[in-house]
Amino acid sequence: MLGIFDSGLGGLTVVKEVLRRLPGVRIIYFGDTARTPYGTKSKEVVTRYALEDAAFLRAHGAKAIVVACNTASTQAIDALRRESDLPVFDVVAPAVRAASSGTRIGVIGTRGTVGSGAYQRLLADAAPVAEVTALACPMFVPLIEEGWAGTPEAAAIARTTLRPLRLRRLDTLILGCTHYPFLRPAIRRAVGSDVRLVDPAREAVLELVRALKADPSLSRALRARGGHRFFVSDKTPHFAAIASRWLGRPVRLETASAE
Ligand code: DGL
Repeated sequence: MLGIFDSGLGGLTVVKEVLRRLPGVRIIYFGDTARTPYGTKSKEVVTRYALEDAAFLRAHGAKAIVVACNTASTQAIDALRRESDLPVFDVVAPAVRAASSGTRIGVIGTRGTVGSGAYQRLLADAAPVAEVTALACPMFVPLIEEGWAGTPEAAAIARTTLRPLRLRRLDTLILGCTHYPFLRPAIRRAVGSDVRLVDPAREAVLELVRALKADPSLSRALRARGGHRFFVSDKTPHFAAIASRWLGRPVRLETASAE
């Protein structure tokens, strides 16, 4: 089984890509909805939560882990790799590789992701001559979680929030939060049609596809029989409705704590 975790439901964008590109893989998902958001918390707390989330997935049979959260990827990836005996895939490094051909690169994410400086450091290495602008967009996750992504209000907030990036005349923009693909049309309109949008969920899964081609035994280990399982640490009818709507199929959420 492939373990995928996020602070909440944003990691379902990664699940969606796995379902599309790796149909035989069996998924076990953990969304830490009781402790979301991670984007506003300290590195120490995000690291502790991320280690607990990964341990939960391992205890439930995961043979590899995808950190489907940019905040956890930027703040806890070293600890996760150090503590885990399973392969750990993150969403940040693949997004940086995909963006590195740009010359004026923007990255948007939570306060935690942008404040960690991880994207900026990796981009400075991968694209040393590129001009990089990072912008925290703390309003986006609540808009998405509340189901407002398609509204005129969301479009207006995206336009106002992203105005500084529009002035930088970007050629590439990393959607550095796994929630943001749900706001993609509003982000696209706000930054203009000539900016290439890089989706870390898609890039991470493309990388996973390559890794599984190179490692047939891992690929077999992820292809267990049975249905996918979706755990959350707090279940409300609202979460269940969003999960089913986002994945375009009925999703049965199970409750569990990673602590
Ligand atoms: N989905 C998380 C990420 O990719 C953000 C949500 C949060 O703040 O917990 O960073």
